[in-house]
Amino acid sequence: MPEPLLDVRDLSVRFRTRQGVVTAVDGISFSVAPGEVLGMVGESGSGKSVSMLAVLRLLTNPNVSVSGQVLFRGRDLLTLPDKEMRAVRGREIAMVFQDPMTALTPVYTVGWQIAEAIRAHEQVSRKEARARAVRLLSDVGIPHAASRAHAYPHEFSGGMRQRAVIAMALSCGPSLLIADEPTTALDVTVQAQILDLMRELNSRGSAMVLITHDMGVVSQIADRVLVMYGGRAAEQGPRQAVFHRPRHPYTWALLDSVPRVGGARVRRLPTIAGTPVSPGAIPEGCAFAPRCRLRHERCAERPALTAGNAEPTHLDACWLPGEDRARLRVAADGDRARPDAAADEDVNREVAS
Ligand SMILES: Nc1ncnc2c1ncn2[C@@H]1O[C@H](COP(=O)(O)OP(=O)(O)OP(=O)(O)O)[C@@H](O)[C@H]1O
Ligand code: SF4
Ligand SMILES: [Mg+2]
Repeated sequence: MPEPLLDVRDLSVRFRTRQGVVTAVDGISFSVAPGEVLGMVGESGSGKSVSMLAVLRLLTNPNVSVSGQVLFRGRDLLTLPDKEMRAVRGREIAMVFQDPMTALTPVYTVGWQIAEAIRAHEQVSRKEARARAVRLLSDVGIPHAASRAHAYPHEFSGGMRQRAVIAMALSCGPSLLIADEPTTALDVTVQAQILDLMRELNSRGSAMVLITHDMGVVSQIADRVLVMYGGRAAEQGPRQAVFHRPRHPYTWALLDSVPRVGGARVRRLPTIAGTPVSPGAIPEGCAFAPRCRLRHERCAERPALTAGNAEPTHLDACWLPGEDRARLRVAADGDRARPDAAADEDVNREVAS
């Protein structure tokens, strides 16, 4: 395995709120190799954005505390002096934020903003920066880039704005791009174009962390997948393994909620029975227990993330027996229409045997 570019170890993020301390990210570990795409998936509030903002040290709220290690090319970003951190941000790691409008200022032209982003990190003339901005806009598929560079953000469509934001993120040739829901706000055709663009960038060597609600997007582009639930990793592993041999009941629910080919397309994760967990109220044991059809006595204790089968890189956090998850998945599916108590009894018997 190549040396990781980004190696996040036991990252936790806590917010002090009036209601007490809220753990938004609870000890996640993952790595991204050069040129690799990690898909980070999970319901709203599962800690996807917060964890990547913590990686880039962009959580400046005084009530936040971040712990763990964020090794980027072997250096811990969490302890780097501010000046060096600023150099890493933008030059080596770039982020496309969840809302593209917040990344663009309405009062300057798009070309000017990209040129300024270049000049913030590199000693180049205004003219050279402007020429590079036009090239970048053209690279991300903006037609007539030279003239469109003079347009203001509101003169761009949603898809073009997203392209412009990606162009800005790429302006300094980062080795890692973190893209937070880059396709969610866009209609289906534009979504597909942005995905193509991301794929092309990846084929030119950029590693990526792609945050999304959409298992469909992950299945198309990710090399590896991290499934988040309640600020913790429920499952992680190579894409093929997670999609073909999913192990965690939450991942099963995510996959079952993806519409079949030919069905209506949905952007956000639709119905998984029960309410998503809120970071202020995560159960003591398994975070997914209140919604899990297969919960049993042991689930009152927190399961560790472990490799439960023959694949050492495919990990999940669940107390179900390591073997035979496919059969348990089918059993859980069959239990859907039944009252919880009856299903619980069966599972306790099944797991005990
Ligand atoms: N400043 C804050 N103070 C308290 N809690 C916060 C703060 N910022 C985020 N949180 C909480 O942290 C949790 C994780 O938030 P995060 O934005 O990472 O979720 P997400 O997985 O990105 O969701 P979405 O898919 O909706 O973007 C949420 O429950 C959120 O309420
Ligand atoms: S079986 Fe238990 S540990 Fe596994 S997901 Fe369900 S509640 Fe959590
Ligand atoms: Mg988010």
